[in-house]
Amino acid sequence: MEEGLFSKTALITAYIRAYHAAHDTPKIFDDFMAHRLVTAEEWRSLGLDVPESIPEAEDPAVCRGRPAALTWWIKVIAGSIIARARYIEDALDQAVRQKKIEQYVILGAGLDTFALRRPEMLERLRVFEIDHPATQAFKRRRLAEANIELPGNLRFIPLDFAAESLSEALKGSHYDPGTPAFFSWPGVTFYLKRKDVMAVFGDVADLAQKGSRIVFDYLDEGFFAPDNPHYSVQLVLENVRLAGEPMLTGFAPPKLAAELAQLGLIIREDLCAAQVETNFLMGQTRGYHAGLYTHFAQAEVE
Ligand SMILES: C[S@@+](CC[C@H](N)C(=O)[O-])C[C@H]1O[C@@H](n2cnc3c(N)ncnc32)[C@H](O)[C@@H]1O
Repeated sequence: MEEGLFSKTALITAYIRAYHAAHDTPKIFDDFMAHRLVTAEEWRSLGLDVPESIPEAEDPAVCRGRPAALTWWIKVIAGSIIARARYIEDALDQAVRQKKIEQYVILGAGLDTFALRRPEMLERLRVFEIDHPATQAFKRRRLAEANIELPGNLRFIPLDFAAESLSEALKGSHYDPGTPAFFSWPGVTFYLKRKDVMAVFGDVADLAQKGSRIVFDYLDEGFFAPDNPHYSVQLVLENVRLAGEPMLTGFAPPKLAAELAQLGLIIREDLCAAQVETNFLMGQTRGYHAGLYTHFAQAEVE
């Protein structure tokens, strides 16, 4: 991310969740608070105009021209964002039911609204939102402008994953390393250098109690292959770079699992795009899809 600038992609993902909550039936994920963090002007200017701009499925392999590739890109970004939000909160609900989880750490939280939408969960969970200082300051301004009252159990921790240590930041907070925690890390790994991603995983493995979980998404390394044939991928890479948030890193699933195991994190689930579609995107009528290179994964601290 560019020095001092908040994450535009965080605003766009919030807009997509807000759009889905306002317009789509059935709802894959009902983020009924997200619209309060998006201004009317942004609502107009971001306007993906999803109904018109998403005609029925087009094979990404044949998206050679810019309009087709853009259409595919919007479908895939929206589908992946909505599905991963659902995946994460389903996993959190399950972890809370099965284990004595008392703390939830949202890494790269952006404009996440969990703490505002789920008061019943805030009665039993301490929630820590960790994000780049510029994005977190932007979010806090938005929360204040929208007159949203913050729950007492929510803590904000500004942190640059590329420059600071997650474990040091958590050690200096109300986080309790003596009880299991649930971590989520949505929409961030691909924006970091590989060494910074692995440092965060290492910190989670070192700090979090045995049985703690981290749920995250990542891209298969094929996304970044210089000979990737999909024009839509080139468009995504070009656009995020222009927005000051270049995508940098993907992983080969078996190698990632092996490297995480060495750190003490055991992959319990790793869904590829086809499984994400089957589990979360069937039955919707908007034409949303999971990105071909998308993975949703969960790892447990050994
Ligand atoms: C695509 S947004 C995702 C936001 C949110 N997780 C969501 O799903 O809506 C990317 C997030 O990664 C965060 N991020 C990117 N680089 C970062 C860094 N070096 N340190 C901390 N956060 C970073 C941004 O601030 C932003 O909140």
